Amino acid sequence: MTFFSDPVLESMATRRSVSKVGPEAPTDEELLELLAAVTPVADHKALRPWRLITLRGDDRARLGEALDAAAGTVREPGDSNTKPLRAELLIAMVASPTDHPKVPEWEQLATAAGAGHLLELALWQAGWGVMWRTGVLANSAEVRAAHGLSEQEHLMGWLYVGSISDSFRRRMLESNRPALDPHQFLGSMPGPAGDGQH
Ligand SMILES: Cc1cc2nc3c(=O)[nH]c(=O)nc-3n(C[C@H](O)[C@H](O)[C@H](O)COP(=O)(O)O)c2cc1C
Repeated sequence: MTFFSDPVLESMATRRSVSKVGPEAPTDEELLELLAAVTPVADHKALRPWRLITLRGDDRARLGEALDAAAGTVREPGDSNTKPLRAELLIAMVASPTDHPKVPEWEQLATAAGAGHLLELALWQAGWGVMWRTGVLANSAEVRAAHGLSEQEHLMGWLYVGSISDSFRRRMLESNRPALDPHQFLGSMPGPAGDGQH
């Protein structure tokens, strides 16, 4: 079911996370092109408080080792943590806030999260399957070190990116996930104190 004639709104309204993606992934050149749709994210004082790190190939095995080290998991020889291997490309999203007299940290984290959502959407609109994942160990010392994070940075999770299978596309067409009721999200300010209106 489609609701919008505008393709941008239609894409936003129909985005779905793709938990199981296929083996193709966008190149850095493709990512750089898509970033033109992300870098205009609202950003108080233009502090640019975010950056991305791509994980491909063995990078993902190193992430698995860092996650294991953080969890205290010891594996048998030949066994490894396969969770980061669920996509050929992981994009770590990093919030890089700095001290600023007028822009508190939370505003900078909001910008970084906004960039993550825009990138997820841009990838989706370009035809890629994406799922944003974190996990409780994302900001463990081991995982942070593996990504080269500085002390004030936060790992906001990873976009797992890959191709979308035909079967997922079919399921999506058949899906009748009900739209959320927008009234749930929209309100107005309470009246002046004491008028009993809320
Ligand atoms: C910051 C952030 C972290 C997330 N971490 C996880 C995660 O670790 N595991 C998970 O299953 N879903 C996670 N999600 C949720 C999925 O990305 C996805 O939004 C959810 O499964 C709903 O699917 P939908 O995007 O199709 O509505 C996270 C979402 C956000 C925004």
